[in-house]
Amino acid sequence: MYENIIVERPEPKIGLIRLNRPKRLNALNRALMSELAQALNEFAQDDEIVVVVLTGDERAFAAGADIGEFQGKNPVDMLKSYRFKEWEAVRTFPKPLIAAVSGWCLGGGNELAMMCDMIVASESAVFGQPEINLGIMPGAGGTQRLPRAVGKAIAMEVILADRRLTAQEALQWGLVNHVVPTELYLEKALELARQIAQKPPLALQLAKEAILKSYEMSLAEGLEYERHNFYLLFASEDKDEGVAAFLEKRKPEWKGR
Ligand code: CAA
Repeated sequence: MYENIIVERPEPKIGLIRLNRPKRLNALNRALMSELAQALNEFAQDDEIVVVVLTGDERAFAAGADIGEFQGKNPVDMLKSYRFKEWEAVRTFPKPLIAAVSGWCLGGGNELAMMCDMIVASESAVFGQPEINLGIMPGAGGTQRLPRAVGKAIAMEVILADRRLTAQEALQWGLVNHVVPTELYLEKALELARQIAQKPPLALQLAKEAILKSYEMSLAEGLEYERHNFYLLFASEDKDEGVAAFLEKRKPEWKGR
């Protein structure tokens, strides 16, 4: 059983993972990250699950890496601990992953949220990268994903000056998809998950993959990649079903094949 996260299936096709170290504002220690990786790997292989929501609690999504784990560590300790191994499970999670964020979303917490595909925020959410105050810098993608989301100028201010973004600012700068009253943030994320859960799983997976490639490839390579995934979906039963259902004016029944 998990000690640092809670794993639920609130509805058919939807997985929910709650970060659960409330006394530490869900600080991401190794144990939590390893449980998160395990839960994501299980959901990835579970054909019943189409989309996953990742959340914390009202006070914090996560206040960053667990700072206690940094004490007395030298670069070799950090290198040997291979501490970002678990994060790969988040980065490579093949199904749509929605972060439902309330309260503090700082440092590694913000990096974790940005690794998700979409972010739904409560109006009380605060986004930031305060690592600079510890004499370090973001290490789980903050310097790469934040500028891609909000642009260089704002990313510089957030990372170098510890500027915290309110939920409204995060919305304005394109970091988050929705901002809702605090009591509704999880419900809003689940509503989005419900919408996505009605879609064909293979097309979701290949479309997500292609969007993420747009961060890594030239336009020409990305277009090529997109086209291959597009052609690949013509091998799926769901494509036959989707087209037939449209022409027959009925609701499609997806098989995920
Ligand atoms: N690691 C370990 N413990 C943490 C923590 C963290 N990142 N964030 C908060 N906590 C602990 C606090 O030490 C405190 O513990 P005690 O009750 O034992 O004192 C408890 O959680 C509650 O926190 P506060 O009393 O500080 O709550 P607050 O409301 O006064 O302040 C806060 C909230 C502004 C978020 C403040 O806790 C804070 O600044 N936290 C650290 C944020 C930070 O620097 N994050 C970056 C970490 S480095 C990183 O993430 C590297 C990376 O890129 C992977």
